[in-house]
Amino acid sequence: MAAARGEFSSRFGFLMAASGSAVGLGNIWGFPTNTASNGGAAFLFTYLILAFALGYPALMAELIIGRHTRSNAVAALNSISTGRKSQILAMGIGLVGIVTVSLILSFYAIVSGWMMAFFLDPLARILGLTGFSEWLTTDTELRNAIFVVIFMVFTVLIITAGVKDGIEKWATRLMPSLIGILVLLILYVFTLEGAMDGLRAYLVPDFSRVTDPQLLINAMGQAFFSLSLGVGTMLVYGSYISKDENLPVVGALVALLDVGIAVLAGLLILPAMYVALASGVEIFDDTGGLIAGPGLIVSVLPALFNNMGAIGILVALAFFSLMTIASLTSSISMLEVPVAYSVENRGMPRPKAAIIIGIIITFTSLLIVFNFDPLFDWVVNFTTERSQPLLSLFICVFAAWIWRRNEILDEIRHGSPEAEHGLFWKIWPFYVKFICPIAILAVYFQ
Ligand code: PHE
Repeated sequence: MAAARGEFSSRFGFLMAASGSAVGLGNIWGFPTNTASNGGAAFLFTYLILAFALGYPALMAELIIGRHTRSNAVAALNSISTGRKSQILAMGIGLVGIVTVSLILSFYAIVSGWMMAFFLDPLARILGLTGFSEWLTTDTELRNAIFVVIFMVFTVLIITAGVKDGIEKWATRLMPSLIGILVLLILYVFTLEGAMDGLRAYLVPDFSRVTDPQLLINAMGQAFFSLSLGVGTMLVYGSYISKDENLPVVGALVALLDVGIAVLAGLLILPAMYVALASGVEIFDDTGGLIAGPGLIVSVLPALFNNMGAIGILVALAFFSLMTIASLTSSISMLEVPVAYSVENRGMPRPKAAIIIGIIITFTSLLIVFNFDPLFDWVVNFTTERSQPLLSLFICVFAAWIWRRNEILDEIRHGSPEAEHGLFWKIWPFYVKFICPIAILAVYFQ
């Protein structure tokens, strides 16, 4: 039944793939705008605490289960189950995870499609194709549908090629470029008038907001979405890590990269918004808050790039290539979840699984494109605010309450023989057993 399993060929390969999954629109768009609309550094501060205190332990639960079982989420949770009830729970969590991640991909592909269209726009303008440029930047169902299909074709092609020749190869090419482009853009935007006001809006804390329940909910949702938790992505990537790797260390590096790039993205987006303000672009909405929704990326920033003259074309090209890269390395990690399940549990050949599931998700995306108002926000909120944190909670419950403790330790000992005496083993088991579930539930029911 099972085909030979893939494995990442090096630590660097895993780090690029896993941080590629984690770093996406959630970091470059979600994090900076959440920060701006939730009291600046007060949000940043809460987010950092939640990411390391809740996100990292939950991430580790997925990586450890994945590497131990060497299988997709459904089979993995099933094989660490200890009885009939936990097997049923395992099946439920695994399958709901697959549906959730497929729905996430179906809205993600739409937004990623916008990013691709805006990436092509500067090229069209360089070539003097004014009509085409106009079409690319006008929000129409046709444009959105076409770019959903194009984006999904890229995602499917990479996944078809497998773990090493698809996911790892592309992540190791794309992630370093992403970081390079991000840093260059920050340096450039910092030279422009207004950037320092943006920096202030980003970094000056409004601590009266720290106790605001909405801030906590947003920060937790942001942390779980950004670390790709709950839906089996990190579990499946963990299943491709070599047994020689020190898991607590690589997990920490992934969390650091994810948080680090989110913080860097804030240094780009908020200063850029205030530069736009200084050049006459409206950046506040009717309620006086910063424009944070789609308007930010598809109207505020493009308006800024237009005001920059010739160099604006290059900046737009760099910015939207950054967004496209971030989307693609995340979308492949989403598609890998149902594909790994179909290959391992249903015996399908990988290319066939990738194509069939890719088509189903593309159709779901198109359904949302053509029924945008009633569906889009609902799918986003349901998957990221409801489903993801709860699934993550159940994975923690599995790791801490159902799985045998000595097996967990044995797994960590591969690649970290002294683990039993280390800090990680002193803190983590208690954390996933009590703190994570209670904290997730508390925030969930706020
Ligand atoms: N972490 C990705 C982002 O920040 C989104 C994602 C969610 C990826 C769930 C995989 C699984 O954009």
